[in-house]
Amino acid sequence: MNRPNDPRSVGAPRRRVEGPLKVSGTAPYAYEHPAVNPAYLWPLTAPVARGEIAEIDSSEAEALPGVLLVMTHLNAPRLWLGNDASLKILQSPEIAHHGQFIGAVVAADATTARQAADLVRITITPAPFEATFHPDGTGSTVPRKVGGSPGEMTRGDLGAAEAAAVHRVDQHYAHPIHHHNPLEPHALIAQWREDRSLDPRKCRLTIWDANQGVLPSQAYLPPLFGILPNQLRIIAPYTGGGFGGKGLPLPHVVLTILAAKMLRGRPVKYAMTRRQMFATTGHRPESANHIRLTADEDGRLLGIKHEVTAPTARLKTYIDASAGSSKSFYAAPACRTLYRSQALDIAPATFMRGPGEFTGMFALETAMDELAHACGLDPIELRLRNEPETDPQSGKPFSTRNLTACYHEGAAAFGWSARNAIPGQRREGEWLIGLGMAAAVFPHVYMLPTRCRIRFKGGRYQVQLGASDIGTGAWTILPQIAADALAVPIDQIALEIGRSGLSLAMVAGGSAGTYSWGGAIIRAAERFRTKHGDTPSEGAQVVAGGGPPKGYKNYSMHAYGAHFAEARVNMVTGEVRVPRMLGAYAAGQIINPITARSQMIGGMTMGISAALFEESVLDPRFGHVVNADFAGYHIASHADIGKLDAIWIDEFDPWFGPTGAKGIGEIGIVGVPAAIGNAIFNATGIRLRDMPFTPDKLL
Ligand code: MOS
Repeated sequence: MNRPNDPRSVGAPRRRVEGPLKVSGTAPYAYEHPAVNPAYLWPLTAPVARGEIAEIDSSEAEALPGVLLVMTHLNAPRLWLGNDASLKILQSPEIAHHGQFIGAVVAADATTARQAADLVRITITPAPFEATFHPDGTGSTVPRKVGGSPGEMTRGDLGAAEAAAVHRVDQHYAHPIHHHNPLEPHALIAQWREDRSLDPRKCRLTIWDANQGVLPSQAYLPPLFGILPNQLRIIAPYTGGGFGGKGLPLPHVVLTILAAKMLRGRPVKYAMTRRQMFATTGHRPESANHIRLTADEDGRLLGIKHEVTAPTARLKTYIDASAGSSKSFYAAPACRTLYRSQALDIAPATFMRGPGEFTGMFALETAMDELAHACGLDPIELRLRNEPETDPQSGKPFSTRNLTACYHEGAAAFGWSARNAIPGQRREGEWLIGLGMAAAVFPHVYMLPTRCRIRFKGGRYQVQLGASDIGTGAWTILPQIAADALAVPIDQIALEIGRSGLSLAMVAGGSAGTYSWGGAIIRAAERFRTKHGDTPSEGAQVVAGGGPPKGYKNYSMHAYGAHFAEARVNMVTGEVRVPRMLGAYAAGQIINPITARSQMIGGMTMGISAALFEESVLDPRFGHVVNADFAGYHIASHADIGKLDAIWIDEFDPWFGPTGAKGIGEIGIVGVPAAIGNAIFNATGIRLRDMPFTPDKLL
């Protein structure tokens, strides 16, 4: 057998293996899987923010030819166990938020289902509700815990920092609600088979689902439907993006399964419309961030205060840990973080790419730019002066922290030295031009051990684990890792991911997929070679787990980066363009430069989009998002994105696991709006602290 060690598979620019399948339409998304005689679902949604269903007349809808089922709380199957209140739909006449599912029509074709849904007459008794967020904290309470930290935390003596301070920045930073809008909408096909005995122990539920991993569905859905995990089969080989919005099973999954259960065997298909997605698939909650930085005359931080106020849905609490980075990023002796949340009668939020870091670093990194300006320091110099030796919050050493290399190499590659420190100096016709930068960080996330099975069959190594490819490259890079670990050419690896029945594995989330899955693959390969050697016999197999090495808890573990942006601001129209951006990252071993670069510039693209355009507008008079489509919610198009580049520092972090890789799924978005806002300040002298940076804020 040919056993190459050089060139390695890891590090090679392998193209996405499912790319040709996707562009030719042969990699099925959830909705596209073949289903025999499917039925089509259209939901009934609550038209009020709170209330109770008084009466339902479905006779006209049921009379429409082709209608198979009108399902409401009156006839829907009962749900069993589960702590997530947002999943317990159709169990009572109560309405908890605008757009909540209150029923569904299922028909032989999609058009009939939609038409019949309009014919269901629902009388609702509205109830008083609250959907007005108060950024000043009115009506808010301090939560007990946010992302593993207490709702209120103080380190050191902020009073002493205050007394000794020469420079101060005390400002408020805000951003609106953002909605995940992956290319593939949330969609599934559900089939509930029962045998003639109708014995619930013999039923079998299959979902072809769009998700970021089968594990959460395996954990949440069986208890809800009163079945065992092995009665649920999940098939999700090619998910078309998620950004966190497909991380957990959502109400539409429950709705479709309820209908499938009532139809007993007939597959039920449901693909959400964009408008429906804006109502029930979660979002990044808005937040108000109050930052107070105090520094000595040389710009060395003495204190950081970061207070976050954010709304949360009454139905299901979700709070972004936006102040997390403020605790451990800069070497400030004193720090205080506080969260306040206000319960509203609105749809639940969820994690969205860079949850916490994205919003918190917008505030912190804009404030740092303001501090640099106040101190008369270059923004990079200010950051270098505040680089900590060890984690300022925990005191732990960093596993690796090559952030200063990101600053230096990023600055050189971007041409940072051309920046004029005095705002408003560079002008071309109607356009003012400026450069800005901001730091990026994303923590190590370890949730559960990932396991992997390797089996030698038909001359190839089957590598099986419950991983997921959400369009980021798992199908492509995991064989690279496996090939090196088994010391075989990559064509001897047969990867299997994206369905239930495989090993327990981390979801494609928390920027933790590659090092969690890759770590398990390497551990399994080591075990395999120890047990079976390099000329295994047919059927030889092992199962082994990954995870970070023992002792990892003694380290402060993060991926780091620096973002550089050029902004052009039109003095006549207030329009902002970002012709170029660069990200410089220290993110551990890069497994594949093509897929890594895509992740990085994809993050930057999403960051530019949020900085300039994205804003979900919730109307507090009704409690729903009013601009719930791509006309009203603009996502950056090709014409909005200029030249993006990503570079990285050579790094290997063993504490993240044997791949040496850190996470790169989210760091590309962190700090991007701050870098752009700081560039806008450099261009114009106007400081923007409120996303998105729309023309009205610059005129
Ligand atoms: Mo990501 S927001 O951890 O799916």
